[in-house]
Amino acid sequence: MSIIHVQDLSKVYRIVEKDPGLAGSFKALFRPRYKDILAVDRISFTIEPGELVGYIGVNGAGKSTTIKMLTGILLPSGGAVRVLERDPYQQRVPNARDIGVVFGQRSQLWWDLPLIESLNFIQRIYEIPPASFKRRLDEFAETLELKALFGTPIRNLSLGQKMRAELAATLIHDPQVVYLDEPTIGLDLLVKERIREFIKAQNRQRNVTVILTTHDLGDIEEICQRVIMIDAGRIIYDGPLSLIKARFGKFREITLETASPIGLFALPTGAEIVQQADQRLTLRFDRTVTTASQVAAAIMNQLEVADFSLAEPDLASIVKQIYSGALHA
Ligand SMILES: Nc1ncnc2c1ncn2[C@@H]1O[C@H](COP(=O)(O)OP(=O)(O)OP(=O)(O)O)[C@@H](O)[C@H]1O
Ligand SMILES: [Mg+2]
Repeated sequence: MSIIHVQDLSKVYRIVEKDPGLAGSFKALFRPRYKDILAVDRISFTIEPGELVGYIGVNGAGKSTTIKMLTGILLPSGGAVRVLERDPYQQRVPNARDIGVVFGQRSQLWWDLPLIESLNFIQRIYEIPPASFKRRLDEFAETLELKALFGTPIRNLSLGQKMRAELAATLIHDPQVVYLDEPTIGLDLLVKERIREFIKAQNRQRNVTVILTTHDLGDIEEICQRVIMIDAGRIIYDGPLSLIKARFGKFREITLETASPIGLFALPTGAEIVQQADQRLTLRFDRTVTTASQVAAAIMNQLEVADFSLAEPDLASIVKQIYSGALHA
């Protein structure tokens, strides 16, 4: 039995268009001209209990808008959403008991309250039985290393500490579904790692369903088995991460900085030019054909290389490759 059903879901934002300057502001006030933005365009998917789903796409793709409709914050413009057999917008209160949400760019905690008081407050709002509250609190104090922070007001926490506190606040009422919208944004690798481990452990131990939005493909790689990719409001991929990895894991990019302007050179076998500037060259190579050191060596034989770096393919380039048919190749 699916826990989330989304059918032809759409969201149109209506904004007032305004000409520049004061006159433009007045005109917009008295004779508004509207423009519709189709942020989510007839998307459909279902999610099973206990799934860990990565919801990814470039800036403005429609991820947060989708999450807001799933959580009942936003009214859809069309289509249907059911979460735990409820309409999340119409049945917001019962829905809230069963879900948890983290918006990485915004805090849900009370800025001036010490963390423990925020959590106590949440206990009362959700009417969490004292025994299970205590159990969860002890667990999170340990797994999220929060004990030393309980007495600290939220405003004094570092970014990484705050995110750990947010996760505790989101999961303390033992929701069945959690939506995490960029939970690792701006965090250093160590904190990211701890948060990833925590999310995985919660899923393993309590079978909590996780929908995770992120720009960090490392998060996806470590946490999710399934990926839904959205672009310009439409779903362009829904399937196992392994398929994407098999297709895109094939390619790597190497960027070389040269000591003098780049002249003529022969492309190493299995490599193609992504970008070339005066003293900078980015090549993409097929790992099944060649290796980074072979490519670097072939270039160094021809050009005076001052520095080079290797990069994993990023999300934008994966999206571009999907449009050019890479998944069907
Ligand atoms: N409140 C709003 N009013 C008008 N347009 C909006 C509003 N919120 C989002 N949009 C527009 O809807 C589209 C989708 O935005 P959304 O925030 O869902 O994208 P996103 O995938 O979460 O992007 P990001 O990765 O930058 O967080 C964008 O074109 C955005 O400008
Ligand atoms: Mg967003």
